[in-house]
Amino acid sequence: MYTQPELKKIIDTSLVNLSYNTESERLTDPVRYVLSIGGKRIRPVLALLACNLYSDKIDEAVIPVTGLEVFHNFTLVHDDIMDKAAVRRGFSTVHTKWNVNQAILSGDVMVFMTNECLLQSPAHLLQKVFRIFNKTATEVCVGQQLDMDFEKAAIVSRAEYLRMIELKTAVLIAASARIGALFGGADDREAELMYEFGKNLGLAFQVWDDILDTYGDKKVFGKTTGGDIIAGKKTFLYVRAMEIATADQKKKLHELYAADSDPAVKVKEVTDFYDQLRIKAFAESLMEDYHRSAMEFLDKAGVAADRKAELIQMAGSLSGRDH
Ligand code: IPE
Ligand code: IPE
Ligand code: MG
Ligand code: MG
Ligand code: MG
Repeated sequence: MYTQPELKKIIDTSLVNLSYNTESERLTDPVRYVLSIGGKRIRPVLALLACNLYSDKIDEAVIPVTGLEVFHNFTLVHDDIMDKAAVRRGFSTVHTKWNVNQAILSGDVMVFMTNECLLQSPAHLLQKVFRIFNKTATEVCVGQQLDMDFEKAAIVSRAEYLRMIELKTAVLIAASARIGALFGGADDREAELMYEFGKNLGLAFQVWDDILDTYGDKKVFGKTTGGDIIAGKKTFLYVRAMEIATADQKKKLHELYAADSDPAVKVKEVTDFYDQLRIKAFAESLMEDYHRSAMEFLDKAGVAADRKAELIQMAGSLSGRDH
């Protein structure tokens, strides 16, 4: 059985060995850059762990699941344009370092690089893997659209928020687990369990990302603290605050969020507001609920319990338990 650090190393090496069309450096430099500035490699590592759950051999899965990481990085490059984010993994975002057009085009190239990786799946899995990927990638786009629509919406319900994060974040993590399991020889029923496991982890992970966006340390988190507040994002913190606020408090949060005030002041005022309503603890308990659901799906997977240890550990770290 492989450990997470071993698998991360395998993925990092596979990313370095990707082949490029090098005719224009202006196109390839941003791709190489974003793939080299760090990143936890959660999705391909999860996929390889899911593969390793069912099989001792992971070799055939490595390049295809490297594609999932390339795709994830593509979503980040375009997401940072949409979210007007200047910092990613502690470094300048691609559109800040180069420009928006280069970030769009190098992002596009990354999608086709993803396809190249996925095409290296063995013939008996190729169609299935591609179908899962295409469905998932389309869902991520829908999630990103909802995320932007919600910036302008006065009220976003918890159900709407949860559907949005399921699409923008959880389905790719879920699909990674499903694809990995299929590479390991799992049948559709087992692969479905892994999908649900990954989906619940993905939901926990995005709620945690929302928490860290407001409460995280920029040096550790690698993104601008308060970026979601500045961008007017309807995070879980906001949605929950609106659920429990009095009419006056609702009006106040709405005004704070809409105000064109100094960003640092705005972030502090909104954070103080969340603190008053003890929103962070509630968000952490929601994360805990999703973590528990994820573990229930993993429990049902039909392999010996000792094969699950590394996945259990990873599930904990994705749900904010090792910080
Ligand atoms: C960031 O994903 C985007 C979200 C879904 C929250 P990660 O936190 O996995 O980003 P990297 O790849 O490790 O930087
Ligand atoms: C993550 O949303 C979803 C995708 C990138 C598809 P966020 O906008 O919250 O991600 P970060 O916080 O910028 O990493
Ligand atoms: Mg975003
Ligand atoms: Mg973002
Ligand atoms: Mg975020």
